[in-house]
Amino acid sequence: MSSKILIIGACGQIGTELTTKLREKYGVDNVIASDINTRNLDLVNSGPFEIIDAKNFNAIKDCCIHNNVKTVYLMAALLSATGEKYPMEAWDLNMNSLFHVLNLAKQKVIDKIFWPSSIAVFGPTTPSNNTPQHTICEPTTVYGITKQVGERWCEYYHNKYDVDVRSIRYPGIISHKAMPGGGTTDYAVEIYHEAVKNGTYECFLSEDTSLPMMFMEDAIKATTELMEAPSEKLTIRSSYNLAAITFTPKEIYESIKSFLPEFSISYNPDFRQAIADSWPSSIDDRVARQDWNWQHDFDLDAMTKVMLEELKKKYN
Ligand code: SER
Repeated sequence: MSSKILIIGACGQIGTELTTKLREKYGVDNVIASDINTRNLDLVNSGPFEIIDAKNFNAIKDCCIHNNVKTVYLMAALLSATGEKYPMEAWDLNMNSLFHVLNLAKQKVIDKIFWPSSIAVFGPTTPSNNTPQHTICEPTTVYGITKQVGERWCEYYHNKYDVDVRSIRYPGIISHKAMPGGGTTDYAVEIYHEAVKNGTYECFLSEDTSLPMMFMEDAIKATTELMEAPSEKLTIRSSYNLAAITFTPKEIYESIKSFLPEFSISYNPDFRQAIADSWPSSIDDRVARQDWNWQHDFDLDAMTKVMLEELKKKYN
């Protein structure tokens, strides 16, 4: 049997589009999508799908053994805003799922892992502009703590057990297919939906909150390129800084307004403001650019154009 790819958390914002891309690249039947439920029916019906709880080691192991899965993309996680509401659940899901796939690689059941980290590993004591690859990481959210600790474990399993684990510190990801769930950067997706549906948006961050962001196409490109890069080129086995664009709510509003002149915005910051304030505003990703030739394609206006076109199709 040819070796297969398993995506855990395939119904989520990134998992959905990652599944489509990997099926294009490697063939529909070679990519098994899985999630804890069937909430995304388009995805569920697009090829092999299994219900798997990412916290269930035996379920993951059985799926890998029965299908000859050799590569796992672990996309299931509780994000920053939800993690603050359910700290123990976030710890439980984010850490146990990671240990499960790391241990399967240690046991040589699988060969290769992709695990996403996040800009949430940084905190208020991190240099905020052009945040370096190696810097102070004192996260103040549960989500950030799980990602930081996860990075340490990835590097440890690579060094001690020769596990081929690869990771990116994703910035906020903007996309028009599946909605993001429970993050602080979600405003930058919601704003496009509200602009198209209602012509107005109330933002939960203040107008000058600058955060690192990226269009989904770039995020998927980065993920597949990192996974295809020769192992010996990779100097980072914790997680790579990755950057594309940085903007504030006011700047994304102005970008949308240049296409939809009637669009209006108001600001009503909530508890997510403190999370955003603890994160960097821009990221230095030179190491990713050197090691595996990472380059982004989309700037803010190019992304706005695609987002509005696609969402107009969806809602009209
Ligand atoms: N988008 C994530 C969040 O806001 C950051 O990794 O939680």
